[in-house]
Amino acid sequence: MRSARLREIVLDCARGDLPLNVGLMQIFIAAADAAEAERTLTAVLGSVERGGAQGAAARLRAMIELWRRTPQAYGMVTSVLQIEHRGWEGVGESQADWGSVFDRVVEISPEAGVALYSLGSPALLEAATAEIVERMREWNLLGEDRTVLEIGCGTGRFVEKLAREMRLGVGIDVAQKMLDVARARCAGIDNIGLVRSSGRDLAAFGDASFDVVLAVDSFPYLVRSSAERAARHIREARRVLRPGGSLLILNFSYRGDVDADRAEIARLATETQFEICRNGTREFAVWDGLAFLLRRTDRKLPEHAQRTGRP
Ligand SMILES: C[S@@+](CC[C@H](N)C(=O)[O-])C[C@H]1O[C@@H](n2cnc3c(N)ncnc32)[C@H](O)[C@@H]1O
Repeated sequence: MRSARLREIVLDCARGDLPLNVGLMQIFIAAADAAEAERTLTAVLGSVERGGAQGAAARLRAMIELWRRTPQAYGMVTSVLQIEHRGWEGVGESQADWGSVFDRVVEISPEAGVALYSLGSPALLEAATAEIVERMREWNLLGEDRTVLEIGCGTGRFVEKLAREMRLGVGIDVAQKMLDVARARCAGIDNIGLVRSSGRDLAAFGDASFDVVLAVDSFPYLVRSSAERAARHIREARRVLRPGGSLLILNFSYRGDVDADRAEIARLATETQFEICRNGTREFAVWDGLAFLLRRTDRKLPEHAQRTGRP
């Protein structure tokens, strides 16, 4: 069962369906140990080479090379995961926050702590960040007269970049040590605010005070805490957004059921009067995150458009 799963991940990478760094992260998670991950990679490469699939073989050789260049990756991914796993078990339905879990994770690696698929590599994380910001630019979310609130800003990689193209960037997070790294990164940039939040709501912010609310890989923790906490953050995002403002959620949950996430977003969007612009689309080359882009509207929306995410 496990070996079939491992082969499936490596074959996805060989076909070019999964970014190589994401594939490495996934086999590190699925394998019993580093040796099993390596054996699978070598075996699949061997069979692909025998089958004469040049492109696929080149991708797998690049994957092995990437692992060579990030020798710390296996240990980092598994250590971060162990801590998150205990948090995952412990937080459950309670109101306890993720702050202490992420305080520990950021000490292992500020890069892997916010994006495991970076394998702890600053260059990979930078490429992923730049790609997301580029997409936000294409979707017309940025602008010198606009303001952004990021829920779960972690080490501040987005607020730092967005503040260069926007009037104000505010990042909130429940983890003090994440914010310490973010403050050091953003020192000297005066249109950035970094705030430790309760994790329960956005009560610190007034109505209609932002043009964009961004949440990258933070909703899965809200969803895990409770469905109500996630729903409350969507209602709150609507409240703090100006009419026409956008909520961009990158990854809504980690339950691995894209259709369930799309249906849940469609239901919540209808309840809170958000128009769906993107409902769980794949947009990135360096990351397999799903994009949910909602726009605050003040008119009644046809139900069909909400279900499909199409006008
Ligand atoms: C995987 S990290 C992603 C950080 C950042 N968005 C990025 O992509 O670089 C998730 C972050 O969400 C934060 N977080 C979890 N639950 C939260 C909540 N209820 N409110 C605010 N932040 C939260 C964690 O402390 C952590 O910094």
